[in-house]
Parts: sequence; structure tokens; C-alpha cells
Amino acid sequence: MLELNGLTKRFGNVTAVDNLTFTVQKGEIFGLLGENGAGKTTTLRMLATMLKPTSGTARLAGFDVVRSPEEVRRRVGFLFGGESGLYDRLTVYENIQYFGELNDMHPREIKKRIEELADIFDMKDFLNKRAGKLSKGMRQKASFARAIIHNPDVLLLDEPTSGLDVGAMREVQAFLKVQKEKGKTILFSSHTMSEVEKLCDRIAVIHKGSLVDMGSTDELLKKHGTQTLEDLFMGLVGGSK
Ligand SMILES: Nc1ncnc2c1ncn2[C@@H]1O[C@H](COP(=O)(O)OP(=O)(O)OP(=O)(O)O)[C@@H](O)[C@H]1O
Ligand SMILES: [Mg+2]
Repeated sequence: MLELNGLTKRFGNVTAVDNLTFTVQKGEIFGLLGENGAGKTTTLRMLATMLKPTSGTARLAGFDVVRSPEEVRRRVGFLFGGESGLYDRLTVYENIQYFGELNDMHPREIKKRIEELADIFDMKDFLNKRAGKLSKGMRQKASFARAIIHNPDVLLLDEPTSGLDVGAMREVQAFLKVQKEKGKTILFSSHTMSEVEKLCDRIAVIHKGSLVDMGSTDELLKKHGTQTLEDLFMGLVGGSK
């Protein structure tokens, strides 16, 4: 469903993503782990067609991200921390609605979907607030809803629960589990080991742009003789700075 083959991105002489190859299946939640600057966001941005790879390829549902960006965009929902993509002057409702329109959704379908998402993410109280006046967590929830209004098959989520309180974090995690059951393909990055442990079928650890290891948490813990994901992670990426 999501295939990376030798995916590489260089910014000048910095190799942000170095020859990444892996596949994420339908119905799978795949976690991208790595220190600050490891190349997670850059990888997700290339998959979301927002950045052109320097070399290598990536395909989503069979469509190449460089050759068929529009086909890819139609099938993908992406969320990037930091830049929410919301228009501050529009209300939360209007922001989500606008994105639905951009995706050629029928007005009735948009309304129904917003109601559904507002219910799932407990957003009813601030649907009519302007995006510029939201708290950080509210903004994150609104961005999430906006990203998935068109019910995409593939979710690319860069630290989706960052900045959320415990309740909101659980709402997002429960939502991702439901999406997995529905057969969606989910690739997300996170710095929260407990979340990764709870949600991911498989993880990839990247360090300085390169894949260090990949597998299910259990497999990797066994292989490296570590007790916790945090120890595993530090063993794989720590101490080599
Ligand atoms: N637009 C850009 N121009 C130049 N260098 C960039 C650009 N974007 C990212 N980089 C560099 O690419 C490398 C990877 O950055 P990236 O943002 O992908 O890391 P990350 O794993 O998402 O880190 P974090 O956990 O801090 O979000 C870093 O060295 C960063 O400085
Ligand atoms: Mg990042």
C-alpha cells in the first residue's frame, strides 16, 4: 500500500533521508522513531508530495509520489505538527468544510463527516471558534479532522498526539485503532514510546536519515536483548553522536 524504495533527500550537503526502503501494509500501523533531526518529517513530507525526493521512489496505492502527485494526494491524509494548515480567520467548521470542498466532497457528505469527527474528537464546543483563537490542543484536533475529512486510505501523521492532554491523546489513539480495523494504512512518527508500544504493529528506527532496524516491538526487544522500547531505542541511536 505504501512502498519506499531507496528514498533519499539531500538539502545541500546534508543528507536528511538516506536510502530508506520499507513497506507499510493495509491495516497496519507503522511507527517512525528517531531523534530530533533524524529525518522523520522529511520522509513524511516526501510521501505527502510536499517535497521532491533527491533519489529513490515512493508509491502510495501504486501511485508514484513524483509522477502522480494528485492521485497520491487524493488518497492521503497528512498532518504535520507545527504547521497546522488552518486559516486563522475561518472557524474550525469552515476550515474543515473548505478542505472537504477542495477534495470534491458533496456538501451533505461534508456536514455528516464533520459531525462524526466532532463527536469522535470531542470538538463540538469549539467548532464555531475561529482557528486563530484555539488552544494548542484544540488546534491539533482541528488539524487532524481537516486532514482526514475525505476519509483517505493512507494516513501520514507527524507526531499526531504532540501537545494533546491525556484524554485527547486517547481519543486520537482510539481513532487510529478504528482506522486500522477499517483497513487504512497508517504511518506516524512519535517521541512517545508508550504510545508507539501500544499502537504500532511495526516500527522503524532511523538515525541520521538511515534505517537502523525495523520490526515488531517484540521482535526487536528480543533481538537486541532489551526490556523496554526506550532502552532499545537508546541502544540503537544513543551514544553515537
Ligand atoms: N527545508 C530544509 N532545508 C534544509 N535542511 C532541512 C530542511 N528540512 C529539514 N532539514 C534538515 O534535515 C534533517 C532532518 O530533519 P527532519 O525535520 O526530517 O527531522 P525529524 O526527524 O522530523 O526531527 P524532529 O524529531 O526534531 O521533528 C535535519 O538535519 C534538518 O536540519
Ligand atoms: Mg519532525
